[in-house]
Amino acid sequence: MNENLFKEICGNYATGVTVITSFNNNINYGFTANSFTSVSISPFLILFCLNKKANSNKALNIGNHFVVNILSSSQSNICNQFANNNLSPSERFSEVKTSSTKNDIKIISDSVGWLECKVKNIVEGGDHFVYIGEVEMGNLSENQNPLIYHNSKIKKII
Ligand SMILES: Cc1cc2nc3c(=O)[nH]c(=O)nc-3n(C[C@H](O)[C@H](O)[C@H](O)COP(=O)(O)O)c2cc1C
Repeated sequence: MNENLFKEICGNYATGVTVITSFNNNINYGFTANSFTSVSISPFLILFCLNKKANSNKALNIGNHFVVNILSSSQSNICNQFANNNLSPSERFSEVKTSSTKNDIKIISDSVGWLECKVKNIVEGGDHFVYIGEVEMGNLSENQNPLIYHNSKIKKII
């Protein structure tokens, strides 16, 4: 198996797009992630994978809170902004409408839905960490379609 074939096969698995937001030392962090998935109903657990070199690891220690924001079909600009390594953590939030949870974690407005979670386990997975989060709060908007990621391209459900 070579790297390109691995990426191509995995890229054929269509996913939604999330932005994972977190907070540490007075800094709001956020990054685009398509590795989000639900794990367990009892208790409510989810996971996502994050590159070991990413800035957001600083705000994701055991017990820290984070929010999974599920992006809507009108939020491709937010997807790009939160994946842009040239932007500082605060620049990523510029012109993005947000509110905050009681734990001071940013919720991105007009998303399909969001879940607030607490980091429960961190598992090593090669060059990524797998974060398992316990869900504490959440909300869903009505009549919003999700953004789709497929073969390295942003797509919409028609
Ligand atoms: C659609 C899309 C999905 C992504 N999914 C992930 C992911 O699941 N895990 C990851 O580590 N990076 C992912 N990335 C890349 C990160 O968003 C990007 O490297 C980001 O700059 C990391 O931010 P940070 O270093 O500030 O934490 C994705 C990028 C895009 C465009």
